[in-house]
Amino acid sequence: MARERVYRSDSTSEPDPPTVPAAAPFFDPDDDRHDDELRPKTLADVVGQHKVVERLRIMVDAAKGRRQPLGHLLLDGPPGIGKTTLATALPRELGVEVQMTSGPALAAPKDVLPYLTNAQYGSVLFIDEIHRLPPTVEEFIYPVMEDFRVDITLGEGLSARTLNMKLKPFTVIGATTRSGMLTGPLRDRFVNREHLDFYEVEDVAEIVVRNARKLRTSISPEAALELARRSRGTPRKANNLLYWARDFADHKRSERGITKPLVQGALAMKEIDELGLDRQDRRYLETLVGVFGGGPAGLQAVAHTMNISPDTLEDEVEPFLLREGLIQRTPRGRMVTAKALAHLGLDPAAPPGSPQRRLFE
Ligand SMILES: Nc1ncnc2c1ncn2[C@@H]1O[C@H](COP(=O)(O)OP(=O)(O)OP(=O)(O)O)[C@@H](O)[C@H]1O
Ligand SMILES: [Mg+2]
Repeated sequence: MARERVYRSDSTSEPDPPTVPAAAPFFDPDDDRHDDELRPKTLADVVGQHKVVERLRIMVDAAKGRRQPLGHLLLDGPPGIGKTTLATALPRELGVEVQMTSGPALAAPKDVLPYLTNAQYGSVLFIDEIHRLPPTVEEFIYPVMEDFRVDITLGEGLSARTLNMKLKPFTVIGATTRSGMLTGPLRDRFVNREHLDFYEVEDVAEIVVRNARKLRTSISPEAALELARRSRGTPRKANNLLYWARDFADHKRSERGITKPLVQGALAMKEIDELGLDRQDRRYLETLVGVFGGGPAGLQAVAHTMNISPDTLEDEVEPFLLREGLIQRTPRGRMVTAKALAHLGLDPAAPPGSPQRRLFE
């Protein structure tokens, strides 16, 4: 994932909250350095997401049978969940070429042109972070996606003329962590849309076992399950924890490879708790409780207080906390739940402001 987060410090919609010092840098479970090494190459290698994979398989077979390009496809879901994996497996299944780019890399229509002229019949153009395409580029690609035609204006003023260029039909695969940020017209141009959700623990465990084999590391089934339970339903996190557990096992000279106690020791050292929350997740909950009395608090205010980008909070921290029922999103802002208080070792029954509810005294 291209990490170009924009920190919107110019927002005036919320009052400036009190500031707490930024946390020291910590382990980033979204580190994507190892993605390519462990990425499934074909649809058959993709674990979980059964319904999505089944539908994609049907689409691929139909496109191949008719010798026509696949319809444009939008993949959305949280980071590390398999969007790029599917977007690269599909062209392989189709036996076509793929060009890869991303929303932030396409600053102007001229940046898109080389991809369009290079596109072969039926090939795939993968646009990662498609929600970050500038409006001018979005408008430019509407006719491309619809009619495989580009309209280019050359020159300015009276001497300006429009050039129409016919393109070879191809497929756009867009990936986004924020489908809500896509404009209606752009979304409508994707005939196929698939949402990837967090994985079941059993599926993540299967990914861990397969990848341990790829890394020639031995791991017990209980250890794989323990690692999966703490990976927040996210394959990338599972992979990164597996790399860490492998280092830890080597360091401890563990003769039986990665065992459950070893996983527990390794994750304790990374400060990853029973639910798979890391320091950043807990800091988010602690900030909501300690600074905002449990909420409701606006995203910008929480982000300012934590000295972190609101985009990172919204994309990478909140989705799992929401799914686990640790926070709620209300019209007035984010709120912690009784489950979150219990998880932090606080008494949900105690009145707000009481010592049992207070973290920072
Ligand atoms: N269904 C899956 N089966 C097996 N491994 C998977 C699966 N999905 C993802 N992975 C693993 O997780 C890694 C990260 O997945 P991927 O890069 O596809 O995530 P992404 O959704 O594109 O994330 P981002 O939003 O950060 O770009 C892959 O390299 C792969 O090893
Ligand atoms: Mg990706």
